[in-house]
Amino acid sequence: MMAVGWAYSETVKDHFMQPRNVLEDEEAFEADGRGLTGNVRCGDEMLVVIKVDEPSGTIADCKWRTFGCASAIASTSVLSEMGKGMRLADAYRVTARDVQRELGGLPEHKVHCSVLGDKALRQAINDYYRRAGLEEKIEQESERIVCQCMSVSDYEIEQAVLEGARTLYELQEMTKVSTVCGECEGEVTELIEFYQNKHFSEV
Ligand code: FES
Repeated sequence: MMAVGWAYSETVKDHFMQPRNVLEDEEAFEADGRGLTGNVRCGDEMLVVIKVDEPSGTIADCKWRTFGCASAIASTSVLSEMGKGMRLADAYRVTARDVQRELGGLPEHKVHCSVLGDKALRQAINDYYRRAGLEEKIEQESERIVCQCMSVSDYEIEQAVLEGARTLYELQEMTKVSTVCGECEGEVTELIEFYQNKHFSEV
């Protein structure tokens, strides 16, 4: 039988075969913050839980669980390692692109699988602020969720346009927006045009 080539980096392979910080028992973990995103109907639900070292304002522990694919598993595994020890404010700024870089890249058609972990982490951080009575620190991501199915915000659409997405298809490849029920498609298409004009039109 012919061997099938492995299209993933060694880091992806390593984190997929031996995922770090998997959440085995949510009750026993006693999280300080919890973030859940994605959509279990399309197999991409992502849960991230954190413990916070209050004196230093850093993430003391970060665990996760997903029903996603190999890329989602490897991405969140590496994200959980990146997040540990990070200041909450810095962890909030970690993007799917940062995770992909840390993984040594992902095959293009798999990039969309890596976008849920950082979202769930941001939700967990905001959840911690809420529980700790630090509402003033909650970053109301000036984000508005445009695609409810895949939890994709206008901010992410703008970032994807800035990184080169010009068509709905390219945006779907990068963010997985509008790939489930399709109800958001009209608005997403308008936003692509809006952000292209905002950032790239001649003055
Ligand atoms: S709202 Fe369903 S795919 Fe976007």
